[in-house]
Amino acid sequence: MKLAIDADRLWASLDALGRIGRYRDEAAEVWGVNRLALTEADGEGRRHVVGLMKAAGLEVTVDRIGNVRARREGREKLRPVMIGSHIDSVPTAGRFDGCLGVLGGLEVVRSLADAGIVTRRPIVVGFFTEEEGCRFGTDMLGSAVATGRIPLERAYGLADRDGLNVRGELEKIGFLGGADVAIPAPHAYLECHIEQGPTLRAAGQDIGVVSGVQAISWHEVTITGKSAHAGTTPMELRADAGVAAARINLQLRAMIASGRYGAAMRATMGAIVPRPGLVNIVPGQVVATVDLRNPDDAAMRRAEADLIAFYEQVGREERVKVAWRQTARTESVPFAAPVQERIARAASARGLRHAPIVSGAGHDAQEMARICPAGMVFVPGENDGISHNPREYSTPEQCANGVSVLGDVALELAEEAGAE
Ligand code: GLV
Ligand code: MN
Ligand code: MN
Repeated sequence: MKLAIDADRLWASLDALGRIGRYRDEAAEVWGVNRLALTEADGEGRRHVVGLMKAAGLEVTVDRIGNVRARREGREKLRPVMIGSHIDSVPTAGRFDGCLGVLGGLEVVRSLADAGIVTRRPIVVGFFTEEEGCRFGTDMLGSAVATGRIPLERAYGLADRDGLNVRGELEKIGFLGGADVAIPAPHAYLECHIEQGPTLRAAGQDIGVVSGVQAISWHEVTITGKSAHAGTTPMELRADAGVAAARINLQLRAMIASGRYGAAMRATMGAIVPRPGLVNIVPGQVVATVDLRNPDDAAMRRAEADLIAFYEQVGREERVKVAWRQTARTESVPFAAPVQERIARAASARGLRHAPIVSGAGHDAQEMARICPAGMVFVPGENDGISHNPREYSTPEQCANGVSVLGDVALELAEEAGAE
């Protein structure tokens, strides 16, 4: 069954949410979005989307980690079909990452209402807290708490760089809700998302049928040396934390080049913060982050072990202390085959070209996959699929294709009978 969505309304909703937290990115000459989790801008985005949910006649609940769920009742008291994603962003985002899934879910329920359809099962549209992990260091935080991977108290205690913690910041923006964080298992979970990479667009595909998400490992590495005068301190007397950080960064490149971890391995040192960070002072400390990705869990474990051994080696050789802690870690997650098949069939029925794809990015769907059959619909991106960047862009047609497939599959699943 095909659900007729309103592509213009979907595009207008993306545009309206994209204006909240926006900033002018002079380098890219475009508007960017900064709705870092639990900031005032995130609060404003949340209030905006909750308003849209209520206006669509949905019953909204906020749980104790700030996840928001909006429910449309069905004809029978059965488990709902849930559609979700996130509306928090990295500080240098575009308008689509996460928002397409949430506003796409909203578009599905609006379209059901327009068509006068009441599905057998309820439909829940939701968004999760701190999916990006950019502020408090752990990605998929809200969905990981909701599905039992991360205890609520541990999540509450996570702090940002200024020492502000999750609980306090939730309270500040008015999203420390009262609902139990343990999300009742839905019948199925669906998420529509931009690919955030070049593959689908380059292959001329309209839809990516996501087979799963690769493993992710994040480290925060604190390198402590000795800060000293840049002009007077002989090179052999230095304990330069900056040089140690640079060597670790280059080691990531060397690890990829070695081929030992498979061709799909990715490694990034995204943050390198020196202290005191001044022109004429040998850096006494660097706090850096490492992001490793690999679809092969065994290869990921090999990479982690080798990197940790290198931390020790570089510490010895540069006479610095290298301390590290794991800030996020997820294994690879396969999505339910029956959900993938439905997505592929729905795309074919609409004459859309589709291909299977492994997600390079982390998503709330991988957490939901722990408690119910889950699946994702990817749409291609322009500009080589650039993402986590203001130049992130998918066309109105690409977005509408993804949400149409999302709607068709949601409708099919929501009509499914069953004991619960
Ligand atoms: C989430 O956007 C990630 O870093 O994969
Ligand atoms: Mn996302
Ligand atoms: Mn993201």
